[in-house]
Amino acid sequence: MAVSLGRVAVATAFHWLARSLLLHSSQHPALGLLLPAAVFLAIIAATGRGTNAPPPPGPAAVPVFGNWLQVGNDLNHRFLARLSARYGAVFRLRLGVRNLVVVSDPRLASEVLHTQGVEFGSRPRNVVFDIFTARGNDMVFTEYGDHWRRMRRVMTPPFFTARVVQQHRAMWEAEMDAAVADIAGDDAARTAGFVVRRRLQLMLYNIMYGMMFDARFGSVDDPMFVEATRLNSERSRLAQSFDYNYGDFIPVLRPFLRGYLHKCKDLQARRLAFFNDNYVEKRRKAMDAHAPGDDDKKSKLRCAIDHVLQEAKLGGYTIPKGSKVVVNAWWLANNPELWEKPEEFRPERFMGEEKAVDATVGGKVDFRFMPFGVGRRSCPGIILALPILALIVGKLVRSFEMVPPPGVDKLDVTEKGGQFSLHIAKHSVIAFHPVSSA
Ligand code: HEM
Repeated sequence: MAVSLGRVAVATAFHWLARSLLLHSSQHPALGLLLPAAVFLAIIAATGRGTNAPPPPGPAAVPVFGNWLQVGNDLNHRFLARLSARYGAVFRLRLGVRNLVVVSDPRLASEVLHTQGVEFGSRPRNVVFDIFTARGNDMVFTEYGDHWRRMRRVMTPPFFTARVVQQHRAMWEAEMDAAVADIAGDDAARTAGFVVRRRLQLMLYNIMYGMMFDARFGSVDDPMFVEATRLNSERSRLAQSFDYNYGDFIPVLRPFLRGYLHKCKDLQARRLAFFNDNYVEKRRKAMDAHAPGDDDKKSKLRCAIDHVLQEAKLGGYTIPKGSKVVVNAWWLANNPELWEKPEEFRPERFMGEEKAVDATVGGKVDFRFMPFGVGRRSCPGIILALPILALIVGKLVRSFEMVPPPGVDKLDVTEKGGQFSLHIAKHSVIAFHPVSSA
């Protein structure tokens, strides 16, 4: 039980941070770090020319609305899994002007993410992502091409290498130890229990801000931390919501989205001002001081994006040009035909019947289990995320027995899905009983 609670809390905090740490990229790409937590959907835009093969099957569509009136807004992973039982491992929904192609089979997922990784290597945009990502100009949402390649190249040395991990390890450990000490010193955490998420969030912010800006926040009440998290969570809420789908799917309805889009633009302007004024400018000056004469490189990084336009076929079907192709990674990891009792939280499975499975970037990939995605657009942050998760979970489990608070015997781990991630709906109160160290 202790392990499972720890995992839930840490994974939740990490995903939250991953979603919320978006910094703008147009100023300096190395600072345009966007951390998605697409744990159940890998979203890939496909391009392709027509061929003789038919488009994938799907429910009959009506003019203008397509299938939108039948399926609605909430295109969550469970709903898409139910549709795959009816329409097959690859099926299509027409959502107004958009085509959504859903892949629910490991072999086809490997086609999309690996074998045909170039054809499927771009990400779809929508009216809200465009506002938050400078029209898809950040690293995560940019189309597959030169701009993306340069962004990956620029961001890899300062963030995504084993050397960086080694370099910052002492700082990480200090932040983790500070979190453990705070929890241990908190009487309420021991007795009534508390929501640990906020403290872990502070730890993760300090780790990331330490690496990006050489900055840290003093406590969960630090006004800068409160403001940074408030701006980020508001962005996350607006971007993840399904509420704006109608205006994205059906352009004639877009005028009705004006209020929503205005809110997004206003928030984005305030977020950028906050991050630029307080962090990015200072960091840029420090970097400029270390890299004089780098102007040519900087201007190239902002150049136009090229677009991969190649034919895309999948499972004997033609994928219409510009489709959004969703690999339902949640279903691949939860399909009882592929796993023994997937609904059971039984990590031992990875030491037993599933011991060959691992979340890796290279090496042998199992297309049933892709928490960090696979292939060209897979998560470069895995090199940081795995050691951070392992260390903090280890430290928490070694220091505390984590139990439900008095009067509660089961935690509510109900999920909540969004446009690109799955998280826990309600953050649970957990009691932390210190264990005496051996
Ligand atoms: C538990 C933590 C994390 C999880 C589960 C996670 C998961 C993912 C997933 C599923 C994707 C999309 C993969 C695809 O489309 O195939 C992704 C992309 C990405 N992640 Fe993470 N991530 C995590 C942490 C991080 C961290 C710590 C960073 C950076 C410090 C990071 C940076 C990125 C970036 C930049 C991309 C976009 C890559 C591209 O499009 O080329 N992630 N992540």
